Amino acid sequence: MKSRPDGIVVAIDGPSGAGKSTIARQLADRLGYIQIDTGAMYRAASLLLLRAGVDLADLAAVEQFCQNIDIRLEVVSGRQTVFGNGMDVTDQIRTPEMSLLTSKTSTLKPVREALLKSQQKMGNRGGVVLEGRDIGTVVFPDAEIKFYLSASVEERARRRFEELISKGEQVTLADTVADVVERDRQDSERDIAPLRQADDAILVDSSRLTVDEVLTIMVTICRNKIDNMESLI
Ligand code: DC
Repeated sequence: MKSRPDGIVVAIDGPSGAGKSTIARQLADRLGYIQIDTGAMYRAASLLLLRAGVDLADLAAVEQFCQNIDIRLEVVSGRQTVFGNGMDVTDQIRTPEMSLLTSKTSTLKPVREALLKSQQKMGNRGGVVLEGRDIGTVVFPDAEIKFYLSASVEERARRRFEELISKGEQVTLADTVADVVERDRQDSERDIAPLRQADDAILVDSSRLTVDEVLTIMVTICRNKIDNMESLI
């Protein structure tokens, strides 16, 4: 197996609301790795397309626009911050409307191609935890560790609902369940890079596990892998 200069690539895929972001952040911290939230990159691209008024049915226009977008993930004053063309869009990309729009824009080939390239560039030195839908299948099929983090629809909707309510959003649990089901459908039925568990991914079902329990499982697996690889060098 080829080794990378900064460590291994850890891929975490799974449906929305399974806890990927929380887990990816804490796992990256524990390993001293960089976290790359690819969903945030798709959200930022969607917001830029929306603000620029690009017609999503016009793929040539989408492609041209995407060739010049600049999306960066940086830690600013200890906080993961998302920049789209130089603007801080961290909060604006997290609304339910942006979730639904991103489910659509992330089906577009020019959007996926642009982000695929930048994700590979950001991660290929290793020392990264990437979370998304297609990391283990498309972005890094050669990732040293692949996790598929899942949970039941009911549990994922309940978590999302509580998160939105705590942010002051006006939503009902029924609407949140419907959103989760719709996003699962869009993510797994799209033609390009659909959500799918890679054949060699480790399935972790977080429905009945706490964040700490999930983390303990993942940290142990990653440390074993890193130790084994180091002992081969
Ligand atoms: O993980 P998230 O909810 O922030 O992702 C937002 C949307 O982006 C979601 O509908 C799926 C899409 N996405 C994707 O298609 N591929 C990725 N690698 C990450 C996210």
